[in-house]
Amino acid sequence: MKKYIFDMFAVVAPGLEEACARELDALNVSAVSISKGGVAFRGGLEDLYRANLWLRTASRVLVRLGAFGSRDFPDLYRKALRLPWGRFVKPGTLLQIKASSYRSRLQHTGRIIETVRDAAYRALGGEPAFDEGPSQQVLVRFENDQCLVSMDSSGELLYRRGYRQMVGAAPMRETLAAGILMLLNWDGGKPLVDPMCGSGTFIIEGAHIGMRKAPGMNREFAFMRWPRYRQGLWHVLKTEATCSERGSEELLCGYDLASEVVELARQNAVNAEVDSVTRFEVGGIGERRGSIVQAPGLIVCNPPYGARLGNDAELTELYRQLGDFYRSVYSGWQGAVLCPPGRLVKALGRGFDCIALLNNGGIEVGLYRAFL
Ligand SMILES: C[S@@+](CC[C@H](N)C(=O)[O-])C[C@H]1O[C@@H](n2cnc3c(N)ncnc32)[C@H](O)[C@@H]1O
Repeated sequence: MKKYIFDMFAVVAPGLEEACARELDALNVSAVSISKGGVAFRGGLEDLYRANLWLRTASRVLVRLGAFGSRDFPDLYRKALRLPWGRFVKPGTLLQIKASSYRSRLQHTGRIIETVRDAAYRALGGEPAFDEGPSQQVLVRFENDQCLVSMDSSGELLYRRGYRQMVGAAPMRETLAAGILMLLNWDGGKPLVDPMCGSGTFIIEGAHIGMRKAPGMNREFAFMRWPRYRQGLWHVLKTEATCSERGSEELLCGYDLASEVVELARQNAVNAEVDSVTRFEVGGIGERRGSIVQAPGLIVCNPPYGARLGNDAELTELYRQLGDFYRSVYSGWQGAVLCPPGRLVKALGRGFDCIALLNNGGIEVGLYRAFL
């Protein structure tokens, strides 16, 4: 069988590009280039499956279908018609096409979508009879009159690992939580505490990293509906992943003031199969005198920012208390806080440096770290 080499692109949230490149490296897939918003890499089908199964920071993995210059719609149609659609799409599949255009003569994204869709359906032998059922997402991007057409291989975004059926207020994406842990060089060998854990995302992602659990183990991917999907290969990769899992001796702890979110976190940990190594307790930051885990490790949290949670007048005081709590109870640990730059960081007190600029649900935030 001919071995195809694909040009691929792992899409990541801003600030997580380097972490994603390191993840690809660990999968023995070399990053070809790192750009804002993602990492380009090359490889075969196995690398594509492996990237979807293992990448913790990527939100989706794209496969490049083709790239060409185009400055008018008839030309776009002709060139789109020649793309190898049949390699990725079974006839009768509904296409969901998205387009963007920057500094290009073809700017009307609605017409770009229509043109590419007409060409693709013609190449595939006709439009699907029904406009429901699973669809295939196609991304068309024009920049400086160069058109790049990509197939989404992931389907549902990769941050949806499947374990978090319920969330508290202002939850963070699993991909962001995992990326932050990687930026803090946390690899599972030490204790992890989140004193404002909400639905438990840091703790559960931390447990997955520590236990080497593949994040894509229990979900479906768009590539499973492509022609020549190699189910046998996928099963081999999943079995390999199961064999590489390890137990964790560390206890990962989350606390939160709100008892209902602590209950959610416990349920999410059960769904994620990490309840044996995690513990979630009700408790405010001022209430605990000592850590239940002794050895120095990492304490990290994503406190309310005011934009989505909390009363603005009380926030500065909350951050002041948080900084004091970190220094008094977790001396010797690495401490990190994800929050917007400015007065809230100042309220944390001495020692916090910004190590990355990130985005949490549309809000620009920094990752601030201190050696306590
Ligand atoms: C932005 S949310 C954290 C979201 C969490 N990272 C997740 O992914 O679900 C902030 C959390 O801080 C908790 N919180 C607010 N004040 C607190 C305090 N003084 N002590 C402990 N938790 C507090 C809130 O109940 C809320 O769940």
